[in-house]
Amino acid sequence: MTVLKITKLTQYFSGLRALADFNIQLEEGELVGLIGPNGAGKTTVFNLVSGFYQPTEGVISFLGQPITGLKPHQVTAHGIARTFQNIRLWNEMTVLDNIMLAQHSSLDYGIRDLFFRTGRYQRREREIRDLAMELLEIFKLREVAEEKPKNLSYGLQRKVEIARALSSKPKLLLLDEPAAGLPSRDVVELIDLIRWIHREFKIAIWMIEHQMKVVMSLCSRITVIDFGVVIAEGTPEEIQHHPDVIKAYLGDDQL
Ligand SMILES: Nc1ncnc2c1ncn2[C@@H]1O[C@H](COP(=O)(O)OP(=O)(O)OP(=O)(O)O)[C@@H](O)[C@H]1O
Ligand SMILES: [Mg+2]
Repeated sequence: MTVLKITKLTQYFSGLRALADFNIQLEEGELVGLIGPNGAGKTTVFNLVSGFYQPTEGVISFLGQPITGLKPHQVTAHGIARTFQNIRLWNEMTVLDNIMLAQHSSLDYGIRDLFFRTGRYQRREREIRDLAMELLEIFKLREVAEEKPKNLSYGLQRKVEIARALSSKPKLLLLDEPAAGLPSRDVVELIDLIRWIHREFKIAIWMIEHQMKVVMSLCSRITVIDFGVVIAEGTPEEIQHHPDVIKAYLGDDQL
């Protein structure tokens, strides 16, 4: 079953073409990568899919339904969750509240339930707390549940952000450079964590990543963009030896 289908996606920013005619199809349970040099348009693709930008042209459909032009919370409600290249957590709240609050976008109780603290409200609040605690347990974050994210190491903040994304029970998880800024021992742990999430949660994962070790060891196929245009698609093996990819990264010692 096709999870995500993007057709002819194009984005201009006042004259600058950030993305041109981008097409991709993600199948259920796939783990795929999106790579390219700085400024290639990778984050723009994720911002378009998750409703942060409205595309100049193109169609995005998710599980057969068009989601083009929806607002971020509507996209989340459809089953797409994301993390950010620059971690975005609510720094003045606890880790637990960060994860609980993320689930409130999918609330199914109304203002009346909230006001009168009805049984339905209390039940739902308990469910939200239980799921948040479960995620903290899974991610070995129980000890930092009452900490503020700003007091945690970068690696732990990344984990909290992924746990928060999963709390909306997505069918597709978008990870924008999850390994950025991590020391190498944390990168190894992150690779294992992503592999584990992919297996246990049985969701599709689409990741942007500069660290080749991460994409190459996790992704079954990779799309490469440069200046907003797809220059290669294929397995990690094919991508590594693709002449256009080598050229795009020339001078960059990561490949
Ligand atoms: N909101 C915006 N307004 C104007 N220009 C933008 C906006 N967002 C992105 N751009 C431009 O679009 C191009 C693609 O940016 P994008 O952030 O998608 O690149 P990227 O591939 O994610 O790069 P990096 O690897 O550095 O994160 C860049 O030239 C960037 O300056
Ligand atoms: Mg980016």
